[in-house]
Amino acid sequence: MRTKIVAGNWKMNTTVPEGVELAKNVLAGISGKPSDVMLILGVPFTHITKVGEIISGSGIGLAAQNCADKESGAYTGEVSASMLRSAGCGYVILGHSERRQYYGETDERLVAKLALAMKEGLVPIFCVGETLEQREAGNHFNVVESQVRNVLFTLDPVHAASVIVAYEPVWAIGTGKTATAEQAQEMHAHIRKVLASKFGEVADGMSILYGGSCKPSNAKELFARPDIDGGLIGGASLKAEDFISIAKSF
Ligand code: 13P
Repeated sequence: MRTKIVAGNWKMNTTVPEGVELAKNVLAGISGKPSDVMLILGVPFTHITKVGEIISGSGIGLAAQNCADKESGAYTGEVSASMLRSAGCGYVILGHSERRQYYGETDERLVAKLALAMKEGLVPIFCVGETLEQREAGNHFNVVESQVRNVLFTLDPVHAASVIVAYEPVWAIGTGKTATAEQAQEMHAHIRKVLASKFGEVADGMSILYGGSCKPSNAKELFARPDIDGGLIGGASLKAEDFISIAKSF
């Protein structure tokens, strides 16, 4: 049995008070209801401590959206994996397409970030996904496979076992255009097959999330597929009600 996960990626949204309010609303929405779905909030760096205090003891996980590729030192503006750990994070989103696209995130840098995150005991939520151009050219399986190989294949099976993978087709992010459940399932199955070629049966236990315009109206159909273990949610995670409704879609 794989862990079912619904993770919110708040991206660069909400002020600290707004984020606190959102976290409180998520907490209120799930209170008292035991669930087999793991919830994670991926918050801006500035919100980590405050949101961490609110969700402390609730079972909700706390994620950062990035970390530095260096351990410590003269790297102005960067935030290290150990800082995240000490601030209360248990997870870190790595390799999001917005970072690859706008901030020059490379596979090479991601290898370093992944190693540092794992050294600190942070669980990486590692994102992969193709652009529309790559899909239309029929390259989507190859593109995603090389993102997995170039970064995750640097791990040993013990470390790989704890990684959460998120398949987020770039053309579906923030566009309202979701991948069909078939498109998502076939890519998730492909990712699992690639992982199994390196890590063997460990791949069976790894959660693979879908991201890209996932919302209450389509989550049920997506989560019903055998290789889709949950979602990484952008826009819809900014409304507690929608986020919780997605979490109830299994
Ligand atoms: P949307 O849900 O807004 O499409 O964003 C998905 C995403 O990028 C989550 O990381």
